Amino acid sequence: MRDGREIVMVSAVRTPFSKFDTLMADIASIDLGVMVMKEVIERVGVGPEEVDDISYGSCVPAEVALELDVPARQATLLAGFPAECISVSLDRACCSSLTCVRLGVRAVKAGEAQIVMAVGAENMPRTPHLAPGLRKGKRLGHIRLVDPLFELGYQEKGFNSVARDAGEVALEYGVDRQMQDAWALGSQEKYAKARDEGKFKIGEELMAVAIAREKGDPVVIEQDESPRKTGMEALARLKTIYGSPTVTAGNAPTMGAGASAILMMPAAEAAKRGLEPLASIVAIVASATAPRQIAAIPAFTIRKALGVAGLNLDDMELIEINEAFAAMPLVSTKILAEGDGRKWEELQNKTNVNGGAIAIGHPVGASAARITMTLAYELRRRGGGYGVASICGGLAQGEAIIIKV
Ligand SMILES: CC(C)(COP(=O)(O)OP(=O)(O)OC[C@H]1O[C@@H](n2cnc3c(N)ncnc32)[C@H](O)[C@@H]1OP(=O)(O)O)[C@@H](O)C(=O)NCCC(=O)NCCS
Repeated sequence: MRDGREIVMVSAVRTPFSKFDTLMADIASIDLGVMVMKEVIERVGVGPEEVDDISYGSCVPAEVALELDVPARQATLLAGFPAECISVSLDRACCSSLTCVRLGVRAVKAGEAQIVMAVGAENMPRTPHLAPGLRKGKRLGHIRLVDPLFELGYQEKGFNSVARDAGEVALEYGVDRQMQDAWALGSQEKYAKARDEGKFKIGEELMAVAIAREKGDPVVIEQDESPRKTGMEALARLKTIYGSPTVTAGNAPTMGAGASAILMMPAAEAAKRGLEPLASIVAIVASATAPRQIAAIPAFTIRKALGVAGLNLDDMELIEINEAFAAMPLVSTKILAEGDGRKWEELQNKTNVNGGAIAIGHPVGASAARITMTLAYELRRRGGGYGVASICGGLAQGEAIIIKV
């Protein structure tokens, strides 16, 4: 980092990401968080008592509410970390788990902590319906049930659905439905190829999840559940969702469950322990803009990160832009290409080379750490270099991280 104190990621792991109606979708997000928190330290022989600070992101509070408050503190204790371990629960929408990385980096830079962990955990399908007003009773009339998942709730306070903003702004940038469907198909195809090549195997970014059953052996989940075969015709037939002109179930990710965790420390500490860093953190920044620009915010945040790092886009071997919808990588790479058609194509070819959330899934709080580790593992396979990962989060917030392998 610019201040000369190098901070490295030494371990990064996630669970497979589930579909909506599967066994994994019954596991509380806190329990998924506990799984990755244990695994991420065990892999590198770091003891729970050695971790100073844990930041834990999740952004569907209604699901977390089933276990009441402070998921970070509960998960920290349930995972066997000592009672003295400091933790914080935070919600910066889909950005959350990168915000956790940023807070961890800050804590190390400030000298407040030496070994820090960033966690993201979410279980969208387990989100209960809410019955507002029921506590005071219902003297007469119908009881209203609210689904916090439907359109992600933004309309309640007068904001547009994310799908509508993303679709409308994509069209303004000349990114039409067909281009979004083609990106979605590409995401599925790139993921399938990468998986067949063994890139999503247990032991790298993935850990297995064992689900105990009353009778018989546990069910073991070792693969992401939402990738599917599709084609342009099938994608074109799908109806648009949530008032969007372009977003469909095919060019959007499914809602699922999953957790991810990243362990960080100063490079000198990793060297002392004989740990080979997974990646060095070069810059990490946050940004925000007008809510409508949700598909553009990854581009703005990447620019900001490059400025902080003193690097150019051409220095980046690979780019990850979270596929909240296909509109995000398309609009953001187009902005970054600054009107140069060939450059736009080149950037698209470097972006999400192993597929993205449209194939893998997007359990919102867990995705930002997921794209970061996907980037790190792929850079490592390719022999190293710089890479940038960026994600948008509700009402146009952004996070971006530049790493070097
Ligand atoms: C899009 C969404 C509404 C779909 O929910 P759903 O209706 O439960 O999803 P399904 O998986 O049943 O898909 C709906 C239909 O599309 C079809 N479909 C989905 N993906 C497809 C694909 N790639 N190719 C062809 N058909 C596809 C399904 O087969 C299903 O068809 P059917 O109705 O004939 O069974 C939901 O996943 C969602 O809201 N996703 C976006 C979440 C979000 O906003 N994330 C961003 C946060 S910033």
